[in-house]
Amino acid sequence: MRIKRTFLRGSALGRFFASCVPRGFSEELGLGPAGPGDLSGGRSAPFVMTGPPGPETLINGRRYLYFGGTGYFGLQAHQDMVRAGVKAWRKYGMHSAASRTGFGNNPVLSDLEKRIAEYFGAGDSVYFASGYLSALFMAQGMAGRFDAVFVDENSHFSVLDGAFSARKPLLFYRHMDPSDLRARLRAELKPGQRPLVVTDGVFPAFGAIAPVRELARELEPYDGALCLDDAHGVGVLGENGRGTCEHSGLEPGGGVIMSGTLSKAFGGYGGFVPGTPELISRIRRTVGAYGGTNCVPVPVAAASAKGLELVRSHPEWRRKLRHNVARLRKGMKKLGFDTGDSPVPIVAWTLSGADEMKKVQAALLDRGIAVAYMKYSGTPDCGVLRASVFSSHTDAQIDRLLAELSGLV
Ligand SMILES: Cc1ncc(COP(=O)(O)O)c(C=O)c1O
Repeated sequence: MRIKRTFLRGSALGRFFASCVPRGFSEELGLGPAGPGDLSGGRSAPFVMTGPPGPETLINGRRYLYFGGTGYFGLQAHQDMVRAGVKAWRKYGMHSAASRTGFGNNPVLSDLEKRIAEYFGAGDSVYFASGYLSALFMAQGMAGRFDAVFVDENSHFSVLDGAFSARKPLLFYRHMDPSDLRARLRAELKPGQRPLVVTDGVFPAFGAIAPVRELARELEPYDGALCLDDAHGVGVLGENGRGTCEHSGLEPGGGVIMSGTLSKAFGGYGGFVPGTPELISRIRRTVGAYGGTNCVPVPVAAASAKGLELVRSHPEWRRKLRHNVARLRKGMKKLGFDTGDSPVPIVAWTLSGADEMKKVQAALLDRGIAVAYMKYSGTPDCGVLRASVFSSHTDAQIDRLLAELSGLV
């Protein structure tokens, strides 16, 4: 018998089960989202990208005007990054075939961590193999400093997996709802217990920005911490591109920890946590995914460092990105879709159902335009149509998407 998720979510019984049953079993009981499910969007064959991403790209051998993925500054094939990667590859090989707690350190990796720390105004940082591991690094790095994890119910799969990996009772609060978090904290914590709240900074389905100041405020009565997986915020949001915290006027440090990825706005690859030297040292000493694996490939780290430097030295790209996002949102509004006024370069909307959305995606592809139809964390069951905006899109390209859409919806 399948027990309803709503019954166990957030309940004392749910907390008990989450703390003592293996994950697969806890999912069967409906304790947490049962994994991503089918993310294929109903496609029988995957799209195959036969060129680097950018405002135009090759998919299945055909050229498209491209509004997919997360290469917000179109850096993934930037020649400075390619050169930096190849140079490091020649000098160091792929990697040192050792973990960073052994012989796996390398000047390129250490230099990248220094640059990440500088970019975010932090004392230190740690760089690791994938943005997907961000929440795992934060939650395990905080192990022993909290008694229960509270997670936004629409969080990205990586946030859920990372929160599960903390091996502590796991509870959900309603999506972007600080007052529900407050109720959960009051109901579930015993006196003296410490909460860890983990959430996306920017939710990838609709590009919503988490109410981080309000969430942090709810934690004030407790000796807790807020962890933000800011994969989509870093590089893009805030005056200096430091992400959701900067955008929201919240200082990371103390009870607020953030992570990011180099694979989206920065055009490189790999996840990172900037933080105090004490936090980063604890992560390095205690997280298995740092000490129990080969270091990140050195060419990837070298190219990523160049990407970080490029974004840092081109604040005008962020301004151009905001202009492009505003242009697309304004145009969508004229078509009858209110996608808000967020500066996040993710513009998503739904139509009457999955079939209708698939039809529109197919019709756009016929016209040489690629937007995503996706089922993902935080999308309704029918999925969403989602256009990603890049700083490198021209006004004319955005207008063309809008013009084609207006004939279809
Ligand atoms: C919130 C969030 N965290 C982490 C990731 C994974 O990042 P990466 O692709 O760099 O591994 C994603 C991916 O899209 C994401 O949306």
